[in-house]
Amino acid sequence: MNIFEQLVIPPSSEHIALLTVMQIISLLTFLPFAGITLGASVFSVYFNRKGKKSGNPLYTMIAKDLIDKLTVGKAAGFALGVLPMITIVLIYAQLLYGAKVISVSMLILALLVYIAAYVFIYNYKSAFQIERVIDTLKNSDVPEDVKKYESKIIYMGTRYGNWGISFMFISMFLFIASVTIAAKPGTWNSVDNVLKFLISVPVWSNYFYFLASSAAVTGGAVLYFFFEWQGGVRPGNTDYAAEVKKFAIVTALVGVMVQPLFIFVNTLLLKNTNASDGVYLFAGLALLAILIIANLLYYVYKNADVSMSGVVFFLVFVLFTFTIVKDQLTFKNAMKEQYLVLSAKAEELAKEKAGSIVQVNAADGEKIYNEKCIACHRFDQKVVGPPYQETVPKYNGDLKKLAGFIYNPVKVNPDFPAMPNQGLKQKEAEAVAKFIMDKVGKK
Ligand code: HEC
Repeated sequence: MNIFEQLVIPPSSEHIALLTVMQIISLLTFLPFAGITLGASVFSVYFNRKGKKSGNPLYTMIAKDLIDKLTVGKAAGFALGVLPMITIVLIYAQLLYGAKVISVSMLILALLVYIAAYVFIYNYKSAFQIERVIDTLKNSDVPEDVKKYESKIIYMGTRYGNWGISFMFISMFLFIASVTIAAKPGTWNSVDNVLKFLISVPVWSNYFYFLASSAAVTGGAVLYFFFEWQGGVRPGNTDYAAEVKKFAIVTALVGVMVQPLFIFVNTLLLKNTNASDGVYLFAGLALLAILIIANLLYYVYKNADVSMSGVVFFLVFVLFTFTIVKDQLTFKNAMKEQYLVLSAKAEELAKEKAGSIVQVNAADGEKIYNEKCIACHRFDQKVVGPPYQETVPKYNGDLKKLAGFIYNPVKVNPDFPAMPNQGLKQKEAEAVAKFIMDKVGKK
């Protein structure tokens, strides 16, 4: 992602605060919308297949309405899905500037796959519309080539639907996995390719959590948009209403009821250092919201009264908010070290721009060593880190390389823990590298 790193500059600390807020807002737009799009397409494809198999037009009708009502127009779909996703990728690229983590490149991949899913899903939607146009022609004599065209449309429609949901599942997996790993700096080194996503417990736990949330928000949206919004869809058709209601309530209820499990697993997997009162508070609020939603859904189910569906839909959004804020607080806690590095780099950049970068020389190298390194390093004795006598000779006098390590340490020796980034500026890293190298060379 070299091009990207050049485009993105390290944010200053005020900038980080702003980015955090923007990130929450973008996630709050993107996640529920992506959840509804995924849910609507999956259930539409499902009902479409059921309709074709059973020959019951009721199911085909549900399939069409689901994709029609819930995926909004093409432009709105872009504005609520693709755009916030681009924003989120850019924000992560800034917050994770310079960090050795695969999240940013995987988020870009997720974005590309999402765009593919978006194109397929909207083609699936148009196939329905064309099918309907041809259907209305059926009363008159349909020419042979139109019939052929129709079967082709039906075939392509099914294809588009299947591709759309597959891409959607993959895109969201990559997205959730990248975001999960980003919030766990301890895993940045070990999770270094996409396959490692597949064997990470936190990744799967968060992904299933997202799928459950998608079910909840889809069920809530169906209840609201099919029965309350603008008088509902196909009023008076009771068979249709009964079928839709049943499926929407069950979907939402299952989606909501399994969430406490994931919140629980999530909290268990939380590192002490990343937990804070805020994180627990929002986890608690999420559990409370789940309890209320489950009760309301049960009420709707029991009394066949959909008047509460607007409240349910609203509360599902509130639940999303609590979860997202909780996860972003965790992320912020996990980023403490990274943010220190970022602020230092931003400051350095600002100074460079102002042309007032201080020249650091070898004398400062000794000072930096005494201030920042001595706690873990001596020249001839192991402390927390290895003695310089043992590690520095292998650099063979390559000052740049040694300074590079000190500027941005990576894992080297499995017998030692990783060296934390000391937040030095480039020039300072060079100075201290020179000091160490000179001293090791003399002995
Ligand atoms: C909190 C402890 C700690 C501090 C502070 C620290 N280091 Fe390290 N350092 C380590 C550890 C642990 C390792 C071993 C890392 C590894 O092998 O992955 C290490 C390794 C190194 C190495 C060997 C790299 C190699 O290629 O084997 C150098 C050189 C080094 N540190 C320089 C510095 C300098 C310069 C500073 C001060 C600016 C510094 N360290 C501050 C803990 C620390």
